[in-house]
Amino acid sequence: MPKNQIKVLDLTFETSIPEATIQAEVKRIADEMNRDLVDKNPIFLGILNGAFMFASDLFKQITVPCQITFLKLASYEGTTTTGTVKQLIGINQELKDRVVIVLEDIVDTGITLDTIIRQLSGYQPKEIIVATMLHKPDATKMKVTLDYVGLEIPNDFVLGYGLDYNGYGRNLPEIYTLVEEE
Ligand code: IMP
Ligand code: MG
Repeated sequence: MPKNQIKVLDLTFETSIPEATIQAEVKRIADEMNRDLVDKNPIFLGILNGAFMFASDLFKQITVPCQITFLKLASYEGTTTTGTVKQLIGINQELKDRVVIVLEDIVDTGITLDTIIRQLSGYQPKEIIVATMLHKPDATKMKVTLDYVGLEIPNDFVLGYGLDYNGYGRNLPEIYTLVEEE
């Protein structure tokens, strides 16, 4: 197996974004936030599981007064025709009138983020700001506003830096792209 490739379960992946590139983008976003968020007393909301690594690296570099909490989307099999219902769980902080910064690992179709924003709106925050480490613009079909984007990537399956394939690969500090079988 070539040096830049790894096997995760049954699939082969190769490095597509080195750790240094990821960290440079995280620093850029942190610098921008530190300018934009002065006096805003933001509360960061990391979306589990995928965003834990991005949230951790970013949060360490935020220098304005701020808080962080983590939320999860739980899937319920709907008994109605709507199919799977996704509900945001873990909100035990007061979000009313707060500047909320959603931290996502990746925006693919945008359906997850759209669901999150709709549910958060119900808590009447002052403002909802979105930061995502990765964005697949060619796959995004929902109208979602992304305020901070680390890197735009092609519409390929990736893992590492918090992102998984069947639960594996989240620990990798760089990002890998699936190698298509011949
Ligand atoms: P969306 O709802 O289609 O935007 O997908 C968002 C969620 O799907 C992300 O939070 C990830 O958990 C997962 N996801 C999307 N693309 C990938 C990928 O390339 N690798 C691993 N997980 C992904
Ligand atoms: Mg996710």
